[in-house]
Amino acid sequence: MKIFYSLLTSALSLFAISASAQHYVLSTPKTSIAVTANQDGNAYIQYYGAKIEQNDIQGLFNVRSNFTRPLYPQHGYNNNKEEAISAILPDGNTSLDLAVASAGRSSDPTGQLLVVTLKDKVYPVQVKVYFKAYNGTDIISTWSDITNLGKRDIKLNRYCSAFMPLQRGDNYLVHMHGAWAAENEIDNTPVPNGEIVLAEKDGMRTAWVNNPSIMMTLDGSPREESGQVFGGTLLWSGNYKIRCVASNRRLTVIAGINEDNSQYTLEGGETFTTPEFAMTFSNEGKGGVSRAFHTWARKYALQHGDRLRDILLNSWEGVYFDISQPKMEEMMANVHKLGGELFVMDDGWFGNKYPRNNGTSSLGDWTVDTRKLPGGIKSLTEAAKRHGVKFGIWIEPEMANIKSELYEKHPDWILQVKNRKPTVGRGGTQVLLDLCNPKVQDFVYSVTDNLMKENPDIAYIKWDCNFSLMDWGSTYLPADRQSELNVRYHMGLRKVLQRIRTKYPDLVIQCCASGGGRISYGFLPWFDEFWCSDNTDAFQRLFIQWGTSHFYPAIAMAAHVSASPNHQTKRETPFKFRFDVAMQGRLGIELDPAKMSNQEREFATRAIASYKEIRPVVQLGDLYRLISPFEHKCISALMYASPDKSKLVVYAYNLNYLYYQGVPTIKLTGADENKVYRIKDLTPWDASKPCPLNGKTVSGRVLHNSGLQLDASLNSPMASVVLELVAE
Ligand code: DGJ
Repeated sequence: MKIFYSLLTSALSLFAISASAQHYVLSTPKTSIAVTANQDGNAYIQYYGAKIEQNDIQGLFNVRSNFTRPLYPQHGYNNNKEEAISAILPDGNTSLDLAVASAGRSSDPTGQLLVVTLKDKVYPVQVKVYFKAYNGTDIISTWSDITNLGKRDIKLNRYCSAFMPLQRGDNYLVHMHGAWAAENEIDNTPVPNGEIVLAEKDGMRTAWVNNPSIMMTLDGSPREESGQVFGGTLLWSGNYKIRCVASNRRLTVIAGINEDNSQYTLEGGETFTTPEFAMTFSNEGKGGVSRAFHTWARKYALQHGDRLRDILLNSWEGVYFDISQPKMEEMMANVHKLGGELFVMDDGWFGNKYPRNNGTSSLGDWTVDTRKLPGGIKSLTEAAKRHGVKFGIWIEPEMANIKSELYEKHPDWILQVKNRKPTVGRGGTQVLLDLCNPKVQDFVYSVTDNLMKENPDIAYIKWDCNFSLMDWGSTYLPADRQSELNVRYHMGLRKVLQRIRTKYPDLVIQCCASGGGRISYGFLPWFDEFWCSDNTDAFQRLFIQWGTSHFYPAIAMAAHVSASPNHQTKRETPFKFRFDVAMQGRLGIELDPAKMSNQEREFATRAIASYKEIRPVVQLGDLYRLISPFEHKCISALMYASPDKSKLVVYAYNLNYLYYQGVPTIKLTGADENKVYRIKDLTPWDASKPCPLNGKTVSGRVLHNSGLQLDASLNSPMASVVLELVAE
């Protein structure tokens, strides 16, 4: 076996330096990918890592032997290894034989592209493999266009987005794993020889169990600010699969739509574009990967990434389904008094024949329940104006209940399997609409469009999704296309979201799916933010937000202060602790402010004012994770820094108090060693008793090398501090 490998390797190296070869290096400020397209047929990935120059390529070939891999390997012919594509041709031939037709560079307004066009030597099949370096970021993405150049149908069995070799060595896979109310825990796994598969099958909440994102270390166990780390995330909202295939000598990441039960028929002349897989490489550990994705997200991968987010009150945990005009108005007035800027009315406002009083009915009937809101939405947007806040509203437009006027009128609009009873979800009656059907796409679009046409002052929509794809059947798709259901559902959803974005570019839209079921770059291009979790317990949120921050930026992370004891975990936490945790992300409140004590109200008003002061650093700055809550070192800490490092915001929490314990020193990687900072306690519980470090100055060098000692502030159960450090 070994002999075979080395023969193959030297053959590849020969190809790589053959005279007909065209070598391409595509770079970002800190990373490069190198691809060779030989005019005599084959194309290879030669390198992905820290930045190199075009004239480094020969040196690379001189000293490396086990990296070079085919660019987009095919199934069925001259290949006994992993594949990027597999198809059944019209005559039953199950193979492809792809060869380079052309290669070249181009650019679009957001990046530099490299495109290699492969064509089958005999059959009319073309694959274009793209790499794009996004301007002003360290992200390179890859995807492909698969085209049927003939007239007869081709069946696609596998259609990957990325086939990425990585350097095999002491590799660890880092990924986010979770469940409802426990999203995005961090798993660190040494990569064994064999295969690790991360895949999602829920169909709808496709980021819940395993997020479609991975980091892979190349030089040992994962560290925050040192070590070589690859990062990749798939921009697909439906079922996906990421495979890490390893042997003694090789490691390959293969990512794309989950092809299980998803054969796709490519008609004559049709092109199937696979979703992008966005990648980065860091010499600064996991922290470098996270910062690269955060920068790219704000620039390109979510809505309004440069616009500061409003501080909001959401009605859900305050009143649940108990919506009424006076209560909504009272909440608006109260959040305004605290310094909030937006009020969001959650579930429970709609349903005419079937009023939405709990989860058992009404989804699909998006008309206001005038028993609860006699003046309709209009009177709420007007009230919001009077109370000095913007207005937002909750919808769950991809769903219906069996108990709804919509289902009575259009029973064929739900996903359903022939000769079987519909599987139902929440409330025993929830079902999923069939977004493969263009009529249903129009309906789902109209939910937002009608609300906005009738109430142009709506500033914010919370788009929820609380069910899975359980019944793989569409009355719209023909019998021989049922296997395309999940792919076509998400193509339909994209169309709807794109239509909404085209017509309402300024609307703020939150992506929610029973909490964090859709925290994914597959959704974010159309959304401003996501709801991290239905678990609003500040203690557990520290873990959830820590994990989520590995790929997703604070500006998109909705984090709300809720009641104590917490409604999900029943844990009691101090009011200040809850604020100090929510202020890590896009700050919001999710309780009834009328139930706050006077002292809580006074504190909340001060904390909200402080948050406004640091909002640009939190939402637009660079994240440094300092002490992980998962390491159980008694405290956890993180920091945001403005791009010029003139402002730092440090958060620290005691999670595991023991009497007479030592509180670890917090070293501020990310502080500018040449600056001197003045410290301010942003959220003292008693305004007249800030923490002992308040007002002191300290150099970046000391912060970096010695660190902050916060014993006095953190030496009690669930103690916390938020400090602002401003360069003098
Ligand atoms: C699930 C969401 O995650 C909650 O925040 C809330 O909006 C409920 N749905 C409403 O039904």
